[in-house]
Amino acid sequence: MPNSKPIKDYIRTIVDFPHEGIMFRDVTTLFADPRGFRMAIDQLLHPYAGMQIDKVVGLEARGFILGGAVAHQLSVGFVPIRKKGKLPGAVISEEYQLEYGEAIVEVHDDAITAGEKILVVDDLLATGGTAEAGIKLVERLGGEIIGCAFVIDLLELGGRAKLEAMGMDVHALCD
Ligand code: PRP
Ligand code: ADE
Repeated sequence: MPNSKPIKDYIRTIVDFPHEGIMFRDVTTLFADPRGFRMAIDQLLHPYAGMQIDKVVGLEARGFILGGAVAHQLSVGFVPIRKKGKLPGAVISEEYQLEYGEAIVEVHDDAITAGEKILVVDDLLATGGTAEAGIKLVERLGGEIIGCAFVIDLLELGGRAKLEAMGMDVHALCD
């Protein structure tokens, strides 16, 4: 039977997490549902059908769950972009602002070869600070970004506009 339930309906909202005033969009309920999770992976990939993608880059932490499944589906490698201090090898770093706070992300300096075509994956686009930092890391290693795919786009926070101004193709399953 076809699944008519929209992606949005699998996502739970937790009010005032992790701080007062934040409506936290919780995708663990989407991940826990076999039909929802399959549909999310299929839809994340849909616009890139037939395009060459050499690696998937996932942004910590929920981008690892989605990006790993997307990479498996494409039979390509997966590269994690992690919060500062988590990767064991030599890294390059980028600092960025979050909707609530600031942070540094890192990637192994040998994780991407110049010219590789990269799909960036995360669960949610808010201010775009995390994705922007991830994009800069990929581009510093010479990767060519084919697209940035998210489950949720919090449009009012301006992330899409920020990434599109950088020349990125932004794909989101719901807003
Ligand atoms: C969330 C989300 C994105 C980022 C989006 O991660 O998963 O990675 O925020 O926000 P932005 O567009 O304003 O940068 P979070 O920083 O909460 O980290 P976590 O996934 O490790 O909990
Ligand atoms: N990351 C940044 N803003 C968020 C939100 N509102 N819900 C979930 N993750 C987020």
